[in-house]
Amino acid sequence: MLDLFPDDRKALPLDPGACLLGGLALPFAPALLEDIRQIAAQAPFRHLETPGGKRMSVAMTNAGGLGWVSDRFGYRYEPRDPLSGQAWPAMPPLFAQLAREAAEQAGFAGFAPEACLINRYTPGSRLTLHQDRDERHLDQPIVSVSLGVDATFLWGGQARGGRVKRIALHHGDVVVWGGPARLTYHGIDVLPEGLHPLTGDLRYNLTFRQAG
Ligand code: SIN
Ligand code: FE2
Repeated sequence: MLDLFPDDRKALPLDPGACLLGGLALPFAPALLEDIRQIAAQAPFRHLETPGGKRMSVAMTNAGGLGWVSDRFGYRYEPRDPLSGQAWPAMPPLFAQLAREAAEQAGFAGFAPEACLINRYTPGSRLTLHQDRDERHLDQPIVSVSLGVDATFLWGGQARGGRVKRIALHHGDVVVWGGPARLTYHGIDVLPEGLHPLTGDLRYNLTFRQAG
């Protein structure tokens, strides 16, 4: 396999099964952003509705064989974009390669996600504490890539209401959580006003899941 990542960067452990791979995606950020632009041209970012009827402040789209959606009927994965009735845009090869390599560096070899949720944050957007538990393969990790404006990652425990750590996520950072950390409560604090040379005032996040 092509050696995209010659030097193993230092992993910062967050908990058993979870770590921050600082800057791992940095060399690929412009290409990732171009891929996002092309995906969004086919499957535009949209504000999904929660099952409780609230409009999410984060705009979302997907790439891959399955895409995460939310509406009044609940959270689930769908093979088609409900807006167009078409399959979600294909997972770009760079996405899959980065996700696999990040998972491997975090100790989860063989990660082959078929779902990539793409989140877009504007100033004031946030993602409240939640677990990622709509995936069939809870034995597989989550790989999360940050691009653009810096954000504060909220990293809780295995139950709601515990202590929450605040971790700065910069452009190019990758977080991986799996194994004993797979169902950790996590979120993103209100995105501050910021300016990034590649994304303006936006933050993007890619989360890779083996869902179906
Ligand atoms: C998520 O929890 O799905 C996204 C987290 C992030 O935007 O970093
Ligand atoms: Fe999540």
